[in-house]
Amino acid sequence: MLDVLCRHLPMIRLRVSLAAALALAAVACTGDIVDPDGDPLEAAMRAFDTNVAPTMQIKCASCHTSTQNPQFMKPDPTLREGVLGFNGGALVDMMDPVASRLSVYASSQAHATVGVNYTPAEAAQVTAWVELEALAAGVTPDPVVETAKITPTLGANEIDLATIGLTGSKLTFDYQPLATGMYLSRIQVDAGTGGVRLVHPLFVVWDGAQAIPDPIDRFSDIDLTVAEASTSMVGGGTAVFVDIPPQGQRSLHFKTATFANGMPPSDDGGIIGGGCKAVPQFTANARTPLQGNCTSCHAGGNQSATNATDMRDLGDDLKQAEACAQILSRVSKLNPDQSSVLESVRPGSPVNHPFKFPNQGAFDAYRASMLVWINAEAAP
Ligand code: HEC
Ligand code: HEC
Repeated sequence: MLDVLCRHLPMIRLRVSLAAALALAAVACTGDIVDPDGDPLEAAMRAFDTNVAPTMQIKCASCHTSTQNPQFMKPDPTLREGVLGFNGGALVDMMDPVASRLSVYASSQAHATVGVNYTPAEAAQVTAWVELEALAAGVTPDPVVETAKITPTLGANEIDLATIGLTGSKLTFDYQPLATGMYLSRIQVDAGTGGVRLVHPLFVVWDGAQAIPDPIDRFSDIDLTVAEASTSMVGGGTAVFVDIPPQGQRSLHFKTATFANGMPPSDDGGIIGGGCKAVPQFTANARTPLQGNCTSCHAGGNQSATNATDMRDLGDDLKQAEACAQILSRVSKLNPDQSSVLESVRPGSPVNHPFKFPNQGAFDAYRASMLVWINAEAAP
């Protein structure tokens, strides 16, 4: 009950008094006991001091206190205010706390190469704190809806969307545990009567009572409409998560989840602005290794391979933009090594995929070429 209230914080605010919502939220989200008459600012300050500052002191202070690197840990006058005010507030997003740059960027591969990253659970504490800051600032973030939790099992899984009012529709995916995470593939929506429109799905993994939202919020660019009685992939249909409890329960948030209400069905898994910006780099660096290793199955030779990831345009000089967009939807720009086009074919990966590179050297060469293109896509 408290968990659900916590995730629905913005909606609760509209219905009960601020103090009551705050007491519930603070207990549920941070494990902190708040005086029911306590003020929101105090709860936000306490969440920062208890759950955010200690991790920052241990993992981030060595680089972010001096002027050499972005100096967001300089107290101004307190550490919390310094972080909030840094670069005009660029590190926190009160409208969409999970998108806060502080947690997202410190969960990315680019930052891992220069610094130390948050674990997903630590990033979740930043999100929970920013939620309280939003409450304290009187900001009303967009409400979210959340499905019931399920415990994933190896193979096919189903999240019934009836729990969010979309009776007859469901979201399905295949689940495979990784050593410290999970590999999801064939993430798709089966729409029942009335069709569905799902905006901005967010996977939340549960470590007991603690919610760990996807730290890089990888489906933030999805606005997917699926017609009645049909099925569509969600984005590219794959997602790799690491450093989360592999067996943890999971649920899904949406910014909005409604019937289709006359919206036309989406193409390409509903990715908004899903095209590539680095098509020349794709053709120069990704095309040859994909043709050499993948198109024997993925360009029509094996139907289930082609349904999962269609590479039929790869050989066509005039369709490089289309071919690139198809592969891009299986790439994690923020964490390239979490891309299904890398993890599914890595020797030693537990992912159940019919092809793996025969040895690490061959994989490394493939990865290096793919990264030239992926990094070009990820560049600001
Ligand atoms: C070993 C040094 C080092 C450590 C430790 C480190 N970082 Fe960084 N961080 C950097 C460098 C260097 C940059 C700037 C280069 C870049 O953006 O990649 C940076 C950039 C950032 C940025 C982007 C700031 C901006 O305004 O663009 C954020 C956010 C960030 N770090 C958060 C963190 C967090 C949170 C931690 C602790 C969990 C942390 N960093 C630990 C070196 C470090
Ligand atoms: C021997 C045939 C074969 C080869 C070669 C092959 N694949 Fe696949 N691939 C498949 C099949 C079959 C599926 C569908 C699995 C399913 O439906 O669950 C698949 C699915 C995928 C998926 C979707 C996610 C998933 O895990 O189901 C990705 C991404 C993928 N392949 C990438 C690649 C890449 C990249 C290469 C080349 C480096 C490659 N594949 C080479 C047969 C192949």
